[in-house]
Amino acid sequence: MKVKRALSYLRHRLSDIEEEDYAQKEALEILAHLLGVSPLNVYLHAEEEISEEELQRILLERLKGKPLPYILKKAYFYGRPFFIEEGVLIPRPETELLVEVFLSLGIDEGLLLELGCGSGAVAVTLLLERPKINVLALDISPKALKITQINARHFQVENRLFLVRANWLTSLKEGPFFRAIISNPPYLSTNEWTELTPEVKNFEPMTALVAGPKGTEYQEILIQEGLKYLASHGIIIFEMGYNQASRIKDIVRGWSYRFYRDLLGFERVILLWIEGENT
Ligand SMILES: C[S@@+](CC[C@H](N)C(=O)[O-])C[C@H]1O[C@@H](n2cnc3c(N)ncnc32)[C@H](O)[C@@H]1O
Repeated sequence: MKVKRALSYLRHRLSDIEEEDYAQKEALEILAHLLGVSPLNVYLHAEEEISEEELQRILLERLKGKPLPYILKKAYFYGRPFFIEEGVLIPRPETELLVEVFLSLGIDEGLLLELGCGSGAVAVTLLLERPKINVLALDISPKALKITQINARHFQVENRLFLVRANWLTSLKEGPFFRAIISNPPYLSTNEWTELTPEVKNFEPMTALVAGPKGTEYQEILIQEGLKYLASHGIIIFEMGYNQASRIKDIVRGWSYRFYRDLLGFERVILLWIEGENT
């Protein structure tokens, strides 16, 4: 089948399970995968033939509800393709705001701590964008650490990335080690998990998304304990749910803070620092 015909065929079939915009995006990602090019370059190959058998295999799995990144073993984050497998959270576009805000702070060197690295999308992106920083990234999931290592090797930043299996901050030695702590923590409540689409619930790891009955459990620990690990002028930055800003405001006593909004206007990232310290 020619690429241009495959594109309209895929768009049409995928629109049975998702919005048109999303169907177009996924159709391009499937074709990019089959052609071995970036999704932006698919149109340049419009007249090429692709394997119809492989296209049907991918489409069938997708129509059964499996998320595309788990089928293609690839998820785009901050414009780069990351290796991904079931058992590890698919990096979300929302998390690009976390990265964007961090990059706007002018922190160009020093050691950062990432809590809950998942696929490594955040840590690896920061290492690529800021060539003089180092990152200590931890996760409770051995699979996440393995995938982070694969991505770090692929993007050739593994010599600036230290990986540790740990349960949040419990086994970290206290001390002024980190210029910044960054995290996209699990932040859903147990109730919110039950309301997720089957596509998320049936395939993505619950431990990557759910914090506990409140949803803010990991963020609270970070706010209460984070200072013990920060160097002077250190900052904490983390992602939160679209509905969590007011609860987080109630627990950030002692910190100065600023929220950052996503494109829909929700406060989704918070930056914390200690007043009087020039960040
Ligand atoms: C929302 S995911 C974020 C993954 C990745 N940073 C991203 O943004 O795509 C949260 C991560 O925290 C990890 N995690 C969950 N509970 C943890 C714990 N108690 N200690 C360390 N990591 C934990 C999960 O395994 C998951 O990889």
